[in-house]
Amino acid sequence: MLTRVHHAGIVVRSLAEASRFYRDTLGLPLVKEAEIRDQGVRAALLAAGASEVELLEPLHDATGIGRFLTRRGEGLHHVCFDSPDVAAALTDLRGRGVELIDAAPRAGLAGRIAFLHPRACAGILVELATPPAAEHHGPAGPYRLARVVAGARDPRGVSRCSQRSSG
Ligand code: CO
Repeated sequence: MLTRVHHAGIVVRSLAEASRFYRDTLGLPLVKEAEIRDQGVRAALLAAGASEVELLEPLHDATGIGRFLTRRGEGLHHVCFDSPDVAAALTDLRGRGVELIDAAPRAGLAGRIAFLHPRACAGILVELATPPAAEHHGPAGPYRLARVVAGARDPRGVSRCSQRSSG
């Protein structure tokens, strides 16, 4: 079960230059930035509401992202969906004959991630990600409010009240 678009991955020539547009001009706040050596990229995640934009700058030409940049220039590289359990999602998809790039989840900037083959996804590279528990959108900290059940004599009054407090 996929819960939202987690991020759109965009290959860029220069993270600093792309950040000037996405962060400074569009005003998307930087969530995190890191070098991911096994993927040969420096990557930044910027928040756009409940979803994010991932900027990917290759560390050198011989990486997958480097080859993409050489062949096709800057542009949309992949779409990532949030999955509560990437490993279970891979097992399920493999069982239904979906062509995978990653047989097992690995560490990525968005958490535990895996890629599906574009041939299985109408030509788009699709990533699945299970973010670290503490990074799910919502209140800060390891715990997340899933549901509140309340009883009251005046449900409409409670509803008004909870609407006010859920800014
Ligand atoms: Co990604």
